[in-house]
Amino acid sequence: MSKNLGVLISGRGSNFENIQKKIEAGALEAQICCVISNKKTAGGLEIAAHYRIPSYTLNVSEFESFEKYEQEIVRILKEHKVDWVILAGYLRMVKKNLLQAFPNKILNIHPSLLPAFKGLNAQEQALAAGVKVAGCTVHFVNEDLDSGKIVGQKALQVLEDDTVESLSSRILTLEHQLYPEAIQAVIKNTL
Ligand code: GRF
Repeated sequence: MSKNLGVLISGRGSNFENIQKKIEAGALEAQICCVISNKKTAGGLEIAAHYRIPSYTLNVSEFESFEKYEQEIVRILKEHKVDWVILAGYLRMVKKNLLQAFPNKILNIHPSLLPAFKGLNAQEQALAAGVKVAGCTVHFVNEDLDSGKIVGQKALQVLEDDTVESLSSRILTLEHQLYPEAIQAVIKNTL
């Protein structure tokens, strides 16, 4: 049966839009039921409006605590009967409330070949380390940053004249291939 996805974002939303397009093209048996952003300026909110997907902005600083903020996220996701939570450029840690509400049902994409270069500015970290191969990873989310079980990875060669921008852009192209494939594999349990 087709699965309900809830997408969490903080910014541009290109992975979110790409997943929506793959769904519309029939490449992914799912529907995005809601989008939640922790930033009201996130470009992904306009994408949600374009596709008429319900969206919500929750500012963590307007909540009594991080726990209450996550409880509200869980409430919205449950209201939309979400089966899988898809982090797509969501720049907050995921903590107990969300993890316990969706055990082993939260996925993230990260622009490095994990376990290398966790955290922010992964592409810059890769260039600074002088690696010759870079890429992206889809993984299950646990309480530690960018550390859950790996679902899939795609790699590319770092070029001599790569800048953070050029490398990030080529990795993003790979992300747009990997994330829908990985979600489809996980929700169909064909891993
Ligand atoms: C991507 O590079 C993703 O790997 C990272 O954040 C970025 C989000 O980009 N987690 P977008 O908002 O999906 O365009």
